[in-house]
Amino acid sequence: MKTVRFGIIGLGLMGRELASAVSRWGHLEDIGVRPVITAICSKSLEPTRVGWFKENFPTITQVSADYREMLASPEVDAIYCAVPHHLHQELYTAIIRAGKHLLAEKPFGMDQAANAAIMAAVRERPDVVVRCSSEFPFFPGVQRIFHLIETSAFGSIFEVNGGFLHSSDLDPNKPLNWKRTVEHNGEYGVMGDLGMHACHVPFRAGWLPRNVRAVLSNIISRRPAGIDGGIVPCETWDNATLLCEAADARSGSVFPLTLKMQRIAPGQMNTWYLEIYGTKASVRFSTKNPKRLELLEYRGGKQAWQQIDLGYASAFRTVTGEIFEFGFSDSILQMMAAFFHEVATGAPLRPAAGCVTPDEAALSHRLFTAALKSQKNATTEKV
Ligand SMILES: NC(=O)c1ccc[n+]([C@@H]2O[C@H](COP(=O)([O-])OP(=O)(O)OC[C@H]3O[C@@H](n4cnc5c(N)ncnc54)[C@H](O)[C@@H]3O)[C@@H](O)[C@H]2O)c1
Repeated sequence: MKTVRFGIIGLGLMGRELASAVSRWGHLEDIGVRPVITAICSKSLEPTRVGWFKENFPTITQVSADYREMLASPEVDAIYCAVPHHLHQELYTAIIRAGKHLLAEKPFGMDQAANAAIMAAVRERPDVVVRCSSEFPFFPGVQRIFHLIETSAFGSIFEVNGGFLHSSDLDPNKPLNWKRTVEHNGEYGVMGDLGMHACHVPFRAGWLPRNVRAVLSNIISRRPAGIDGGIVPCETWDNATLLCEAADARSGSVFPLTLKMQRIAPGQMNTWYLEIYGTKASVRFSTKNPKRLELLEYRGGKQAWQQIDLGYASAFRTVTGEIFEFGFSDSILQMMAAFFHEVATGAPLRPAAGCVTPDEAALSHRLFTAALKSQKNATTEKV
């Protein structure tokens, strides 16, 4: 078993989620590679948080408040970096140039200029594996959809809708945090936060947006700043609807691709969904009902949607029996398996079992930048 010494920068929501997946590594079978957490870094180094890491990962030998200490360590081969968006450019470029493999977080640069700087570092270091996080393609329902795409089961695709929905921002009393300020989250607003999740499968399937008409909404424009901070402007976009003309790289067919990213979708919590409509087959999948795939196969005659309950049919084999359910933390474990598999072998297990590539992230920046222009001028913009 190959060992990869692993550092985590940013010990917040996602830093802990990925560390927890490392502690569950034995869940994976036949993986051939194992991450071992040797270093952690966070600006705040809050004692309870550091204590949680040290207690659960006795392999940690370095704890630092300055990421440069981790980059200088010979005990770190690969890094997961989960920090606010305004820091992506500085940290990601430094990590790549230090020769550490990088599992980065979306949006992979706060804006297109930051993304271009990161892409320059990626080009300088082809020996370094750089990928971006996106876990929903690893749900068994989405893996099954990829199989249908790869076997051209849809016939001619004539419509695709995908999105990622949350609702907690419906509460006007929810305080402002960094994800709701232009300074730290960027002008993309909800697109920077949720957009990569909506784009990953369409981009990997080869459905490339040619142009976009975007409607962006700032629904709750003032929020409490925090304890005794008063009410302050909240300037980020809450919701985004992007209607794209997409071209299928396989067949050349052109169809509408609608991507929705919403922080205010009443009743929804971490709902990722995808619908594909084709002349021979159509599918609908949503994490709201994560074991169910809806499939309509058409060979003439009656049209009927089947509801198929999928078991734990994951890209990377695990000890879980196929009759059991798959959830969010399983998708994180699968995504990490995909990253470390690429670090160890130099290639993804299958195209459908790979993390977001830098080129896919750069395409999402072209799309979101065009969407901002479309919103501003009420025009359809080339991507
Ligand atoms: N893949 C997903 O499903 C998913 C979900 C949520 C967030 N994210 C992404 O993860 C990233 C982090 O989001 P989060 O929700 O974990 O944020 P968070 O606010 O919970 O954590 C951010 C962490 O970064 C640390 N930090 C800030 N400045 C730093 C610096 N200069 N050096 C080192 N550490 C620093 C903070 O101390 C904190 O521990 C973002 O890019 C976000 O878009 C991804």
